[in-house]
Amino acid sequence: MAINKLLCNLTFIFLLFFHFHLGKGDLQLNYYSKSCPDAEEIVKQQVTRLYHKHGNTAVSWIRTLFHDCMVKSCDASILLETVNGIQSEKMSTRNVGMRNFKYINTIKDALERSCPMTVSCADIVALSARDGVVLLGGPRIEMKTGRKDSKESHFAEIDELLPNHNDSMMYVLSRFQTVGIDVEGTVALLGAHSVGRVHCVNIVNRLYPTVDPTLDPKYAEYLKGRCPHPEPDPKAVEYTRNDLQTPMTLDNMYYKNIMNNKGLLVVDQQLISSPVTSSFVQNMAVDNDYFLGQFSKALLTLSENNPLSGDDGEVRRDCRFVNKS
Ligand code: HEM
Ligand SMILES: *[C@@H]1O[C@H](CO)[C@@H](O)[C@H](O)[C@H]1NC(C)=O
Repeated sequence: MAINKLLCNLTFIFLLFFHFHLGKGDLQLNYYSKSCPDAEEIVKQQVTRLYHKHGNTAVSWIRTLFHDCMVKSCDASILLETVNGIQSEKMSTRNVGMRNFKYINTIKDALERSCPMTVSCADIVALSARDGVVLLGGPRIEMKTGRKDSKESHFAEIDELLPNHNDSMMYVLSRFQTVGIDVEGTVALLGAHSVGRVHCVNIVNRLYPTVDPTLDPKYAEYLKGRCPHPEPDPKAVEYTRNDLQTPMTLDNMYYKNIMNNKGLLVVDQQLISSPVTSSFVQNMAVDNDYFLGQFSKALLTLSENNPLSGDDGEVRRDCRFVNKS
């Protein structure tokens, strides 16, 4: 009796152990080498083609990876539309400004034509970000594949798990720590803000009613021109570029800007005011290769956060919807 119970407990512990360790271990380099040998090439072709039509698609893929992986798992939950009990993560205020989702379908369609029901949307999110980095001047990152797609949205957890534009640096660092990214890695990842744009809703609190004293006064005047309304109309497309000098290059200009008090978001500016992060900012500002190396390493870690495997997920036919069973 006692032995039985012990065995039972051991099996349980074993299963638990196995379950937690399967996730990451199931990802592998060239996961599709047999099932869809051209998968990674197809993604790269599509991402490149889209970049030449709309350069900002490459920018979006990087943000999409962050917003997918940071919220529980790299499981393409962010791509789900609102239908049958699913509330789309795209509707969250944290996801304001996210764009180009329709082109994920373009990439998926190309894959479905070669290998139906084989390549997951979660892997498309990862690989497209990887290829986007290269197009924006960053290094090529070897990424594993084999992620599965979630059958649910994590809408309700977003506010808790995804940092806000004005959260404290301590909070931001603790969030990244839970996904295995240290202070240096967090500073480097925020360098993604060297490309793309910010909508006025995310910066007006630094401009009105009074200008944030940590913001360069001339730059603040420029930003007020870009964002003339203290409470921007959500329908108006009012935004400013993250990096005025090299807006489409993933580079260390971001760190130079924040050292000159030209960080856009409160979190950006805090990287230099917080003593825990400021030395990394200084080093990244003078050494682009150091920045890119740390960025790649941290993006890889982020891309492997808690992947679904086996029966925990599925390969969606259409990235916007859970498969009909
Ligand atoms: C504390 C962490 C972070 C916060 C609070 C944050 C917040 C934001 C906000 C508010 C925007 C502007 C969105 C808009 O108004 O359109 C933005 C843009 C962006 N973020 Fe972050 N972010 C963070 C970290 C990251 C990370 C880790 C990445 C990727 C590695 C990333 C990639 C991007 C990109 C590429 C854009 C530009 C998007 C576009 O132009 O379409 N962010 N972020
Ligand atoms: C952060 O900004 C949001 C609006 O985006 C605002 O509602 C909130 O009060 C701000 N939080 C802090 C701590 O300033």
